Amino acid sequence: MPVTYLEAAIETVREAGGILVEELARPPQISYKGDVDLVTQADKRSERAIVSRLTKYFPQHSIAAEEGTGEEKVSDFRWHVDPLDGTTNFAHGYPCFCVSIALAEKDTLLAAVVYNPFYNELFAAARGEGATLNGKKIHVSKNATLSTSLLCTGFPVHDRQSSPNLQYYGDFTMASHGVRRDGSAALDLAGVAAGRFDAFWEFGLKKWDTAAGVLLVQEAGGKVSDFAGNPYQLGGPLILATNGLIHEEMRSVANKITQAGPVLLGK
Ligand code: IPD
Ligand code: CA
Ligand code: CA
Repeated sequence: MPVTYLEAAIETVREAGGILVEELARPPQISYKGDVDLVTQADKRSERAIVSRLTKYFPQHSIAAEEGTGEEKVSDFRWHVDPLDGTTNFAHGYPCFCVSIALAEKDTLLAAVVYNPFYNELFAAARGEGATLNGKKIHVSKNATLSTSLLCTGFPVHDRQSSPNLQYYGDFTMASHGVRRDGSAALDLAGVAAGRFDAFWEFGLKKWDTAAGVLLVQEAGGKVSDFAGNPYQLGGPLILATNGLIHEEMRSVANKITQAGPVLLGK
């Protein structure tokens, strides 16, 4: 039995990551949850392993897992589980995917792990103890201007026509060194924590997409809010995560785009 929540989370993602690497060698069995929201046998196997291990270690805790096999309990403790973040990448053999799990006590995130098993990169954070990549401390970047920043974002996998993000994508591209769109929100957030990206934003993410990444960014010295500057709530309509230094500049550009009105995808 691991001693800390973080140790338990690390043990759990390592097992799930092993499953993903094994499954990557097999032809993907793809089904659709709607639009381009893919699910594969790997998502399901990974989730089974995670839920079973967390339930064994913490039978009283709730588990909110993307593929629906977690269980709600009467508890202040809840694990947010994305058994495979970046399913579309995985299904195409593009090795930008991860396992993402985090533990919250009520609204306070306590422990978080994002693990890319293909590159063996394990990002971890515990509240008040900083963030690490493969055991070494990580920090957000020191870049203080948007014009010299590298940003990242993502686009929804369902109801794509209603996403306003195309306009933000274009304007932020022109205002920075560029915007990457890598297909895994958890790795995007981990990238901000590690100083690879200076900022990330995305609309419509679920709690399991962001829970671990939010704690990583905060513990690496970054800032997380919505475009209005209010604290980001898990599952909220918009997340903005930055190195802190370009946060206000990002907000100001975003607010100008918002005022100009939406240009919807596919319109
Ligand atoms: C998706 C990824 C992607 C983001 C989508 C998410 P999934 O999660 O995080 O980067 O743009 O909004 O749904 O479906 O691969 O777990
Ligand atoms: Ca996800
Ligand atoms: Ca997923």
